[in-house]
Amino acid sequence: MNALLACEGLAAGYTRGRPVVRAFDLEVAPGEVIALLGPNGAGKTTLLLTLAGLLPGLGGTMALECREVRPGRARAVARSGLVLVPDDRALFTQLTVRDNLTLARRRRGSTVDDVLNFFPALRKRLKVAAGVLSGGEQQMLALGRALIQDPRVLLIDELSMGLAPVIVEELLPTVRRMAEVTGAAVVLVEQHVRLALELADRAVVLVHGETVLSGPASRLAADPGLLERAYLGERPPEPA
Ligand SMILES: Nc1ncnc2c1ncn2[C@@H]1O[C@H](COP(=O)(O)OP(=O)(O)OP(=O)(O)O)[C@@H](O)[C@H]1O
Ligand SMILES: [Mg+2]
Repeated sequence: MNALLACEGLAAGYTRGRPVVRAFDLEVAPGEVIALLGPNGAGKTTLLLTLAGLLPGLGGTMALECREVRPGRARAVARSGLVLVPDDRALFTQLTVRDNLTLARRRRGSTVDDVLNFFPALRKRLKVAAGVLSGGEQQMLALGRALIQDPRVLLIDELSMGLAPVIVEELLPTVRRMAEVTGAAVVLVEQHVRLALELADRAVVLVHGETVLSGPASRLAADPGLLERAYLGERPPEPA
């Protein structure tokens, strides 16, 4: 595969010698959407924080376009194109929508208008403080703020947190379009498993920090029992 992001034997966690996620392998192609699934406490957020450079790696390697990325160096990692949309969205709530976007903007990079093409609903809200937006609008802004950084890999933690399912159903196709139009790969952590599998090309299921299942999203969607057993920690038999 022509991998954009490659992780090999990655260990992630908070205390040296006690990794939360172990032996994580993943190769992601440009424009590909990966659903990262698993029960509460499986290590999904820990893994995304590590991929975004916000936690020091505890072992293994990660590379972006074959160039090694050193976890724990958040600014350098973000500059290299791994951009996180955290589960709390981390907006500047007192600042306007426009300021939230322009502060994240890179010189000669995407513009506010580029972002508004993906999220036209924000056009009328540019002068409003981010804190008074609706939950769905805030999530659009969080995605827009990631987009304006011209990500190579977009790491999205629980887009649906606190949002009504109907709003999530509206937002997720935009994530797909972002991947298609910009060529960025997306790693999407999502509790709405059905919606995530509809959107993703492939899925990876983490349980207790280990990958217990991975494969085409369509295969997992077609066999809910497979996913259910994986959540219970049962590994499927190796194909013969
Ligand atoms: N700051 C921290 N310091 C130490 N341990 C932590 C910290 N944050 C999380 N953990 C532990 O790491 C493990 C994985 O947590 P993580 O938040 O990555 O899971 P998750 O899969 O994102 O769960 P959820 O679906 O609930 O968001 C848990 O056992 C948790 O207690
Ligand atoms: Mg989490």
